[in-house]
This record gives sequence, C-alpha cells and structure tokens, in this order.
Amino acid sequence: NNHQFFSSQLLSWNRDSNQRTMPWKGEKDPYKIWLSEIMLQQTRVEQGRAYYEAFTSKYPTVFDLAAAPDEEVFRLWQGLGYYARCKNMLAAARSIVHDYNGIFPNDYHTITTLKGIGSYTAAAIASFAFNLPYAVLDGNVYRVLARFFGIDTPIDTTEGKKIFSETAQNLLPVNKPAVYNQAIMDFGAVVCKPQQPNCLECPLATKCIAFLTNQVNKLPLKSKK
Ligand code: ADE
Repeated sequence: NNHQFFSSQLLSWNRDSNQRTMPWKGEKDPYKIWLSEIMLQQTRVEQGRAYYEAFTSKYPTVFDLAAAPDEEVFRLWQGLGYYARCKNMLAAARSIVHDYNGIFPNDYHTITTLKGIGSYTAAAIASFAFNLPYAVLDGNVYRVLARFFGIDTPIDTTEGKKIFSETAQNLLPVNKPAVYNQAIMDFGAVVCKPQQPNCLECPLATKCIAFLTNQVNKLPLKSKK
C-alpha cells in the first residue's frame, strides 16, 4: 500500500542517494543531539554548523556545559538569537547533572520534562540516541507528508497537528527510527524542498498526490491567522 511504498522508497533513497552530511548526523550521544536540535530551532543548518562545533568542543559533555558560567555560554551563543533557548538549555543541563547524575534520561516522557524540550526535540533525542520509535515532525516532515498524501488540513491547527502526527507515527518503521527520521528530514531538505522541489527525480513522485494533481506549490497549507 501507499504507506509501505512511502517508507521503503524513502529508505532506499537514503541508502543509495542521500549525500547530505552534517556534523551531528549519525551522532548517538543524546547530549550532542540535544545541542544540535536546540540550535537548529529558528536557525538554518548552514549557520548552525559552526555553533555546534564551537559548543561541542568547548563543552564536550553535559557536565562541562552545566558547570560553565552563564555569561560565557551566552557569549558563545551570540549570533544565534532567541536567548530563551540558551537559558533553557543551561537549566536543562544543570538538571541532568543534579537530578540524573549527568545521565541523559532515556525515556520520551522524562525527556519532555526538561526545560525547552518539546515533543519535536524529545522525539529527535529518543529516536537518534536511543532508537526509540518516535516520529519527528518538523517543517520538512509536514511538507513531505502534506504533498505525498495530499493532506490539505492546515498544519498550524489542532486538527492538522493530530492528522500529521498520526500519519508520521504510522509511517515510522519501528526497527529503524533513527535512520528513518533522519532520512525524511534530509529528503525534505534536498528533494521535497519548499521551493523548486526535484519532482522529476523524486522516487515518490509516481504516487505523490500533490505531484499528480499539480498541487506541489500549494502544500502544505497554513491557516492564515
Ligand atoms: N533540522 C533539525 N534537526 C535536523 C536534523 N537532525 N537533520 C536535518 N535537519 C534538521
């Protein structure tokens, strides 16, 4: 069926054609995954790289980050903006050290209780670090799913969030959460792009509702608020 086609084509594309490299890709340390995901919120991957390298070399473990003076961490964060992210990150690092002996929690629910970690970041950490079956849902995933399945429910509504998260979770192969989650984000970034997607070389195009009905540039929909 369409779900199996989607997941297997995506994994084949990833294995044979995904050329995207990023410093955090394939990383298994939950601390480093967490850093990268926090930095990539409201920050482009290209800009995020340098900050990720700077942070992981200055603070290689959660103990180093938790022990650092606030002002020093803020200085290293300079240019990324949204300082609430940085403050929450420090608070969470200190909680991991003090409440969990420096061991990053390895279950989804506990991860979501850390400051600044919502469902997206928790799913990314749970799947990439611990291979737990939580589907990530970011802008890339919304776009790929909206187009392939022709979902025209606006992504920024309660109903939309429910439909997309159920669809994403149903597609996730339970034996490959880490590889699959990274693959769908990479696919959204390099093939099923917001502008000028590469539909002519897309391995999903033969069953992509948006492609077949000429709606690629219309999806995903946002409710105009
Ligand atoms: N954006 C946020 N996290 C990402 C990741 N792990 N890979 C690609 N893009 C991302």
